[in-house]
Amino acid sequence: MTSVCLRGAAQVLRPPEVGLPFLRHDRAAELTLEPGDVVLDGGRIEGFSGGAADVQVDASGCAVLPGFVDCHTHLPFAGWRAEEYERKVTGVPYDEIARAGGGIASSARSFAEASDADVLAQAEALARELLAHGTTAFEGKTGYGLSRDGEARAARLGRELAARVVQPMRVTGLFAHAVPPGFTADAWMDEAEALARDCDVDALDIFVESFAFGNEHLARMGAIARDTGRALRAHVEQLATHRSVPVALEWGARSVDHLSLMHLDDVAPLAAAECAAVLLPGAELMNAEHAPPARTLADAGAIGVLATDFNPGTSPIASMPVIAGLAVRRYGWSVREALLAATLNAAWVLGWSDELGSLEPGKRADVLLLDGPAGHVPYRFGHNPVAAVFAAGEPVWVRPDQAWRVRQT
Ligand code: NIG
Ligand code: FE
Repeated sequence: MTSVCLRGAAQVLRPPEVGLPFLRHDRAAELTLEPGDVVLDGGRIEGFSGGAADVQVDASGCAVLPGFVDCHTHLPFAGWRAEEYERKVTGVPYDEIARAGGGIASSARSFAEASDADVLAQAEALARELLAHGTTAFEGKTGYGLSRDGEARAARLGRELAARVVQPMRVTGLFAHAVPPGFTADAWMDEAEALARDCDVDALDIFVESFAFGNEHLARMGAIARDTGRALRAHVEQLATHRSVPVALEWGARSVDHLSLMHLDDVAPLAAAECAAVLLPGAELMNAEHAPPARTLADAGAIGVLATDFNPGTSPIASMPVIAGLAVRRYGWSVREALLAATLNAAWVLGWSDELGSLEPGKRADVLLLDGPAGHVPYRFGHNPVAAVFAAGEPVWVRPDQAWRVRQT
């Protein structure tokens, strides 16, 4: 195992206390960004004062951060939907796109037609792209199977992907994503329940929307999650207000995701709950959605989280730095708020915040060296600020122009 010393960083992002499972957003300003060293050994963070090491890293002028945790992606998916995006931006309404076979149904066809090897090859390449943008742990969902067998296959491929990628990966069963042809939403929930019982997944998810599933189905998924010991996640209030947040809270959801059109009366209960607000500004931008009440949520002390929603329809964006940049601009969030939401709080959503998500002695050494200060992450929008990535203490990505900083001793 390699030992690494990142020496003389201009900023090291650290939590105000060790052992926090998450940090509510009204405390984000307590994160520190002080100069210092970071030492990695045995795959773990050893401490914060430099010494002899197998790899010396010149971190002068740079920020050192914990790796980004992308807790909401739709990997693995097959193919893309660029033509649909062009139709969408040039004014073709969604129902027309959907009637022409677009939307989730189109990705479901691509998924059904692709071999296991092709699905995994595309997803593995995308996981490497995530890594080069600083994502050192992520989640992927089923949801493009759209049949009992297809969803079971998606769950299996999710686990196969997890075994192949550098990053720790969680698999979520989004078994209620769209109502498959020939089913009513009620009837499909019986299949979703069987899938939840049969498949090896870490969490369960559901898409609540007028053309997908309702709050009664969310409650049913909550009961299934409770019975099977899985965390409940939910896509809610993305395109319309359905008042799904109170239902999700009643069922002890780990997170509610999207929230673009959440009702303002639901802000205070959500902010008080042990339930993360997972905001997805990439989908908001690419799908022309409203911005959620993110400033209000943060001030009210919500567990704020950012993720890519990486999928071929609403968010073909792999870069957490881009997501952080969008959040700062659209939400009026500070740099610390965006970074907290992309690291520790996101790790909590995946049940991993005791293991990763912040720079603390004993945690997994998933560490990023940036090519400048932390404030450049949102400010130099579109630029990839990640100079080097250490995963469990090993250098797994070094940007060629920054290679001079990393020296084997
Ligand atoms: O998170 N909201 C539902 N599901 C995805 C989009 C799925 C798709 O269009 O392929 C989302 O935005
Ligand atoms: Fe999503």
